[in-house]
Amino acid sequence: MVLPSTAELPTTFGRYKLTKVLGEGGMARVYLAQKAGPGGFLTESALKIVKRKAGRRSEFVQLLTREAIIGGQLRHPNIAATRDFDQVDGHYYIDMEYVEGRTLEELMRVAKKGDGFPPILALDLVRQLCRGLAYAHAMCDRDGRPLDIIHRDIKPGNIMVSHHGVAKITDFGIAKAAVETGVVTATNVVRGTPLYMSPEQATGQPLDRRSDLFSVGLILYEMLTGTRLFEMRDIISTMESIARAEIGDAPVLLSGIVPGLGPVFRKLMALHPAARHRDGEELGRDIADVTNRLADAHDIEPDAAAAEALRQLTTDADARPVQPDRHPAPTLPDSLPRADISLFKLDQIDASNASDYMHDSIPPLDSGADPDGLETLPYLDPVIRRTALNLKAVLDSVAETDD
Ligand SMILES: Nc1ncnc2c1ncn2[C@@H]1O[C@H](COP(=O)(O)OP(=O)(O)OP(=O)(O)O)[C@@H](O)[C@H]1O
Ligand SMILES: [Mg+2]
Repeated sequence: MVLPSTAELPTTFGRYKLTKVLGEGGMARVYLAQKAGPGGFLTESALKIVKRKAGRRSEFVQLLTREAIIGGQLRHPNIAATRDFDQVDGHYYIDMEYVEGRTLEELMRVAKKGDGFPPILALDLVRQLCRGLAYAHAMCDRDGRPLDIIHRDIKPGNIMVSHHGVAKITDFGIAKAAVETGVVTATNVVRGTPLYMSPEQATGQPLDRRSDLFSVGLILYEMLTGTRLFEMRDIISTMESIARAEIGDAPVLLSGIVPGLGPVFRKLMALHPAARHRDGEELGRDIADVTNRLADAHDIEPDAAAAEALRQLTTDADARPVQPDRHPAPTLPDSLPRADISLFKLDQIDASNASDYMHDSIPPLDSGADPDGLETLPYLDPVIRRTALNLKAVLDSVAETDD
């Protein structure tokens, strides 16, 4: 079965009726789905259906199952609930709480086109993320042993903001299953992740909860400044600046927007996790302090001001629905012109450095067909070659979005 497109809806999928495509990512399409019960009882879900069919014993399904089990245990207002995990005709799906609202990615896009992201709202959302992460990171099993849950893909596209202003983290654990088994294409792994990666993640080091917090820092920066801290210029400088956590005078810039935020940000973005905030709770407290300071300075009440800011932003979004909910997945040309290749200074990439730059778990190249035109760069290590091409796709999609 090919997953139904918008034109084919509504349609039946197991016990569900799929009514609308909510969005699509690298490995799955997300539908608004309804499930009817007796007496007119109706529940709505965001049904995330994995595009690729997989056998029950495949490594991907085993990992996805494990992660869905963990996701299913997380019960927190700032985490979109996982309600069910099953398959229909070989397509695995996750039944998630449907969050009526927008992704943070979309809100940020609207803000960039308008008057910018209101700082009081940015701080409010970050505090909520801290609460959700603090809860998940501290989860223990029944015997009190820590589960060491890490999200690994904290990014604006994985944060839903409900119409009522509640931030909900989606996709807990799913990223890991997808990346470790290579079920998503490298295009989507790289496209989805490196902009918000921690240095330890970019260099393939072991991760802990502080990697997720680093990603939150990058999102906070982008909300407040409208730019990405590690913006892609070329592959070498990008991977190096992530790996070194080069934040330059970002703290000074941020303190100019939110007094007192600079030192908090400097600590959060430390290269070594040990120098960062210990957990979401500690970060949340620091963010609460600067929020209160900002509120006092402007004589506003933070919660009411954040709610009003969100209302304003969504009114703007409704008035100017210029952008689709998601930009289309970048497509790679059949063959790359030489000029594009030079953009990445690929001749400077030494394949022996591959592991310095990239995570070991980048999926292997598919054998057989070469739809991405990878044969045009035969002299490079496959990982680097693929990464370079993917980063080109990232640049293209970023350029498209920022036009
Ligand atoms: N729980 C939810 N409620 C409402 N909409 C959702 C929910 N989860 C996801 N969506 C919508 O579906 C879209 C696609 O989500 P998905 O997780 O498949 O992709 P992504 O996270 O944006 O990217 P990728 O999976 O490639 O990293 C989201 O951008 C969002 O618009
Ligand atoms: Mg997602």
